Amino acid sequence: MIEVRLLQPEEAPKVAPVTASAFADLDRRHHRPAPPWTDQRRAWFERRVRHFLEQDPGLQWVAVSDDRFVGVAMASLREGLWGLSLLVVRPDAQSGGIGRQLIDAALGDHTGRGVICASDDGRALRRYAAAGFEVHPCLVLTGPPDASSFAAHPAIREGVDRELADAVDRLVRGAAHGPDHELLQGGRGFGLTYEAGGRRGYCYASDEGWLSIVAGTDEGVSTALLRETLRRHADAGAETTVSHVTAGQQWALRVGLDAGLKIAIDGAVCWRGMPEPSAYLPSGSLL
Ligand SMILES: CC(C)(COP(=O)(O)OP(=O)(O)OC[C@H]1O[C@@H](n2cnc3c(N)ncnc32)[C@H](O)[C@@H]1OP(=O)(O)O)[C@@H](O)C(=O)NCCC(=O)NCCS
Repeated sequence: MIEVRLLQPEEAPKVAPVTASAFADLDRRHHRPAPPWTDQRRAWFERRVRHFLEQDPGLQWVAVSDDRFVGVAMASLREGLWGLSLLVVRPDAQSGGIGRQLIDAALGDHTGRGVICASDDGRALRRYAAAGFEVHPCLVLTGPPDASSFAAHPAIREGVDRELADAVDRLVRGAAHGPDHELLQGGRGFGLTYEAGGRRGYCYASDEGWLSIVAGTDEGVSTALLRETLRRHADAGAETTVSHVTAGQQWALRVGLDAGLKIAIDGAVCWRGMPEPSAYLPSGSLL
């Protein structure tokens, strides 16, 4: 008997094992190596789980069978934009309708604007499309960036100005990230702001090469921010990963090509109730 109920704060540590097993199994089925769960990754993941439990307690769901966690769905709601942060079912419980129950619970009666960064599990894509999301297949750009032709940009400065970022987000994706900046700013990495007259933008990236968000009032702004991020990764000797590049983000693909990154197909970004923003690369979990 499966019970789908709200996740309780004291249960936060139980989310990582279900997540690790579901994604390791997905990677195994798709014949690719699973990224390791380093202490740093685990710590960040637990902070993320607690963050959503604090910010959106009514949108965190768990499926339990005989006291055992078999699945989790975590979501957020920011200024009317619903976002899916996590959907996983334990491998030995998959394909039995639990994923569907979890996403239905996390969506609740929210039928409006939404965003999901989907994996390449066809079962997830089926559900998102059925729930009214427009599915945009995407590319991931990876590798050590060659940024020798990228120069520092005079409009870019260190750090993210939260008010500016929230204003850009409202313009670009119809909702600010608000409290999510605490999590985005808290990790090891850097944030950048672009400001030149009315043209504005921001981004977050980790020192190890992960990119969280790039948001700009136009594609030129986002291009400059992505180029500066790759320049820093090149200086640090890091391998970059730029995910969630859909057909609507040719500007990001061009930056990746200029930097000599590898191109592969990976998952999809799904939007509902609004057009896909073009000068924007979402964060997989903070969207
Ligand atoms: C994706 C995932 C959460 C789905 O949960 P699940 O319990 O396995 O899936 P469900 O049984 O609820 O099925 C979901 C849909 O896939 C279909 N489906 C289930 N098993 C299937 C199979 N073997 N082949 C094809 N379709 C299948 C179901 O019919 C359902 O579609 P429908 O509602 O339109 O009929 C789960 O498989 C998982 O954890 N995968 C690995 C992690 C991952 O990729 N998470 C998604 C991140 S975005």
